Parts: sequence; C-alpha cells; structure tokens
Amino acid sequence: EQWNLETSEPFAVMGTVVHSHHSKSINILQNHVIIVHDGKIQHIGMAPSLQELKEVHNISERQIIQLSPSQFIMPGLIDTHIHAPQYPNAGLGYDKTLLEWLETYTFPLEKQYGDLVHAQNVYKHVVRHSLNSGTTTACYFATIHLESSLLLVDLMTELGQRGFVGKVNMNTCQNKGYNEKTEQSVTDTEIFIKNVLQRKNQLVQPIITPRFALSCDSILMKKLGELAKKYNVHIQTHISENLGEIEAVKEIFPDSKHYADVYDKAELLTKKTVLAHGVWLKDEEIKLLVSRGSSVSHCPCSNTNLQSGLCNVRRLLEAGVKVGLGTDVSGGHTPSILDVMHSALDTSIHVFFQHKNIIPLTYHEVFYLATLGGAEALALENEVGNLMPGKQFDALIVDMSSHYLLNSEPETLVQKFVYCGDDRNIISVFVGGKIVKKTKI
Ligand code: GUN
Ligand code: FE
Repeated sequence: EQWNLETSEPFAVMGTVVHSHHSKSINILQNHVIIVHDGKIQHIGMAPSLQELKEVHNISERQIIQLSPSQFIMPGLIDTHIHAPQYPNAGLGYDKTLLEWLETYTFPLEKQYGDLVHAQNVYKHVVRHSLNSGTTTACYFATIHLESSLLLVDLMTELGQRGFVGKVNMNTCQNKGYNEKTEQSVTDTEIFIKNVLQRKNQLVQPIITPRFALSCDSILMKKLGELAKKYNVHIQTHISENLGEIEAVKEIFPDSKHYADVYDKAELLTKKTVLAHGVWLKDEEIKLLVSRGSSVSHCPCSNTNLQSGLCNVRRLLEAGVKVGLGTDVSGGHTPSILDVMHSALDTSIHVFFQHKNIIPLTYHEVFYLATLGGAEALALENEVGNLMPGKQFDALIVDMSSHYLLNSEPETLVQKFVYCGDDRNIISVFVGGKIVKKTKI
C-alpha cells in the first residue's frame, strides 16, 4: 500500500527500525515508531495506538507510514569520499596505478570542468545516482574551478543531498595546464567558502581540499590550514594510498618524519579532517591521527581497482581512528555505498588471509561504518548517523520482499540487504525529513 504524506507536517514511520550506536553491533527495534517534526526525529519508541498517535503526538492517519514485515527503516548511507567530476570515468582506466592513472585519465577529465554546461550535466547525474543509491550525506571533491564547484553545491541543494563540497587545490603538478597559481588557489578557496557559508540552506558545507601532498607545496598547504582555522571548516585530502606516491612524498618533503607529518606541519590534521585511503599508514602516523582526532575514509573498491593495496581497517579501528566508507569514484567504479560495504567485507577477509591474527569485519560492523561511522568520520555524529531523537531524519526505507526469504526475521532482512541488496531495495530516501527518492511498489 502506497503512502502519501505531507513532509512539511509532522509524520510517523511504524515498523522495524535498524541502526547502530557503536561499532560492534546493530540495534534492531521491532514494532517501533519514529516521529518526525520539522525534518528532525522528535521521538522513537514502541509503536503506540493510532489514537495515541493522534492525541499525544498530533499525527493524523494520512501522516503515517506503516512498514510491511519485509521492510525496515535505517539511517541514510554516508559516502565520506567521492570525486563528482570523475563520474564519467567510473569503471574505466584500471590498467594503470595511481600516479599514472591521474596523469593519463583523471587530470584530462577534470580539466573539462571549466565548462559549466558539461559540469551541470555530469554533476546532476552524480548527485541523482548517489541519492538513488541511498547516500544521504556525501563528501565531494569537485575540481580546481570555482564556478563549477559552486554549481555542485547548487545541485546538491536542489536535489536535496546533505554533505560537503571542496574546490580542489593544486599548485605543483604541471599536468598540461591543470593547476593553479598559489595566490589564485587561496583567493578562490576563500571566495568559495564564504559563498557556501552565507547560504541560508544548511544542507551543504564547504570543505578545504588540498588534493594530496604531491599536488600542493607547503606554502599553499599552510595557507589552507589557516583558512580552515579562520572559518572553522572541514578539511579533506588523500594519504598513503600507493607505495609510489609515498616514495615521492618522502623525496619532496625530506624534513617530514612521514606522510602524515607533511599535513600536520601545515595544521591540516584537525578533528574535522577526513583522509582518504590510509592503506599504508605506519603505527606512528596512526597515533598522530588519533591524537589529532582526524579520520580515515576507507575506499576498498578504489584500493582494489587501482591496485593500491589492502587496507587493514581492523588495525585502524583498534587504534581508535574514526573510520567511514568512501566510494572514491572513479578510483572506485560505483557511487553505491552498499557496493562498498560488500567490498569492505571481502577486503577484510583478504586481509585475514594475510594476517591470521586479524578478525575480519562482520556485516554489523560494516553497517556501522556506512552509517554512524561515516557520521563520526565527518564530525556529524550529533546531526546524522542513526535515528536518535534530535538528529536529522536522514533515512532509507528498505524493502526485501523481492528476495523470497523463507522468514522475515529482521536480522535475516538486514543480512540479506547488506550482502545481496541494491538500489532497487531502497524504495524511499529521506534527507532532513524531505523525500528525495520514492519508488512505486
Ligand atoms: N590522489 C590524488 N588525487 C586522487 C584522486 O583523484 N583519486 C584517488 N583515488 N587518489 C588520488
Ligand atoms: Fe579520492
């Protein structure tokens, strides 16, 4: 039965709720209700009678979504690392590893985003595809171009996706003209930050985005560190993804103890910093990240496609690093975090083959990484990540009826969804209480 409600008015969802409170487990709450007011979760508890809903919570019958036994509601997925401009290259160019891949396929593609028509076309599709895959919060790299980076912010706002957009900074590599002068890079970044911060819509925030240590010199990185402090904004970059990259960083920054120290010297490691990959981080670097409160975006699809390596997520988690999942399109071939969850499970078993003392991730842990873990990695855990009162109603309705399960125990539905689900099972997506995807069933 299809519901039809007014999201500007209070509404309720009744049925099975699945979410995480910490890394080891998921909570399954049967016969519960979530009440949404002004886009936020006002209440979660045992499902009351219709009369009680009406009299206590002021919710009329047409403002109720009643989930079926083969459905559940869960927090929206969080993509902590995705390159919007690289969408046309997803699935292509995996005959090369990182540094050659960047030069051959990635920089020539990103250079095209001076063209706003091209940017508009691609960015619309990326955001749409990401939302349809259940990503309610996405942390995007754009390109070095100010105008098209702002366009990505416009499109997220229009289509209703929460998240971050970074105008990319790169002042060192030559790359056939895909780079900037230091002055321009800093000026455009400040214009970008101010423009995004002054908007009334709070859905999208700016994020400072030095591409990686090989594309920014230390002067630029220091200036970006200063901007991050001045505006109290997030920071994202890449770290220790590929062995050739790490060697080059060592050569270019001989005064730094290690890769993480390059960023630390520029004050780029903060509580609001998310570092993509971290495949080859040393113990000392991991300690530094923990002490700074910076997080890692685990991108297993990309780490496999670009032959970067196997990231030992268990090691990061046990050290106390905050970890979220990232699609890393187009190092990753898919904008679906559900696909990345499969890859994270696979990868953790491959790590176990190498190091028998490491326990592979469970699907409960991967569910956490894709939701609350992502929120913590982006320092958004007070806003999103699970369905606790006071948080934004960023949620997915999952329907597993097409899988002909022999029982509809919630635990069965969730495991089946994590291992076998895809965007067709995500029948509705809400961001801040607004419907951004709704499938007729
Ligand atoms: N390191 C620097 N730039 C990139 C990029 O675009 N993708 C990936 N995977 N790694 C990078
Ligand atoms: Fe990346």
